[in-house]
Amino acid sequence: MADWIEIGLTANLAQKTLTEFSIGKTKLAVSYVNGEFGIISGVCNHVGGPLGEGTLDADYVVCPWHFWKFHHKTGKGEPGFAEDKVPSYNIKIEDGKLFVDLDSVSKRNKLPHAPHPLTRKIARKPGGVRLVAISTTAMNKDFPRYSTSDHLLNIALDHAASKGCETKLFKLNDMNIRTCEGYYSKSAKACTFPCSITQIDPTDEMEKIYEAFVHWGDAFIISTPIRWGAASSLYFKIVERMNSIQNQETIAGKHLLKNKVVGLIITGGQDNVQAVAGSMLGFFAELGCQFPQFPYIAHSRGWSAEDMENNVKYVKESKSLNDGACALVDRIFEMASLMIGGNALHQIFDKGGRKAAR
Ligand code: FES
Repeated sequence: MADWIEIGLTANLAQKTLTEFSIGKTKLAVSYVNGEFGIISGVCNHVGGPLGEGTLDADYVVCPWHFWKFHHKTGKGEPGFAEDKVPSYNIKIEDGKLFVDLDSVSKRNKLPHAPHPLTRKIARKPGGVRLVAISTTAMNKDFPRYSTSDHLLNIALDHAASKGCETKLFKLNDMNIRTCEGYYSKSAKACTFPCSITQIDPTDEMEKIYEAFVHWGDAFIISTPIRWGAASSLYFKIVERMNSIQNQETIAGKHLLKNKVVGLIITGGQDNVQAVAGSMLGFFAELGCQFPQFPYIAHSRGWSAEDMENNVKYVKESKSLNDGACALVDRIFEMASLMIGGNALHQIFDKGGRKAAR
């Protein structure tokens, strides 16, 4: 026997294509498409996103968190995932009002979607230290200019290669990386690894950075210019996207960056080396990374130095800075070798405070 519950006046409901509606603890996604109403569960099969707050793509309700789709009347997943169903309900219209029968609910059926390749088990391949260099300087691609931070990074990379180290260089300025869209601020569960954008946009290249940090690299050198007392905007672009790595510590108890060593190259025309280093070290510490002794080299000519052309000349010709870039690689290499050769890989960390996770 049906138990019809009133949702509202059809004339009002038809004003919006998709509405979230709750009856007790049951969340519903009420839709109106091409003159027809549909009611399905308001809870997504993936990680519980609010379908009623989503959008419509033809006959499909699109989840606002990671864009999985469910038919607005049947609850079936989009073609290819039809058996991945959210519950759907019988409805009726009487006297200009829409009613739902909660007892008529069809079963939820979760069909596993293929896991993203980045979620594979982390297993370091045997071999020597693998170094990833990340250039964060921003410049006009058609008219590239000299960059002090890139200059020192290149010296570091050449030195690493001369030590027999495998290296990879990522120039963020040449990559298509979307800015973080803040899914975490909708709900902790909405932030997944790899991040939502990587899972939905094959043109976004952050996947390469995730692969390098989580699976390929042992050691990392990040070079940045100082812009208004802070690191480069391109640095912050990847840092915000790497929030999904850090959130795995707190949301899922997963430690993705094991035994990774980070060093920094920071150059700025004027000031604020220590603040930039502090912010960058703080971030990578939160990800569980290790640092060599004296984890950064840096250069700034001071607040009053407005003569940038002399700054460039100084970095180009400075033997101590150029030697310093090589020495930084040596320290990173030593620490990475210790980490790889030691037993830290197998340690289990007790959860203390909110960060360290089993
Ligand atoms: S797509 Fe709905 S919660 Fe992820």
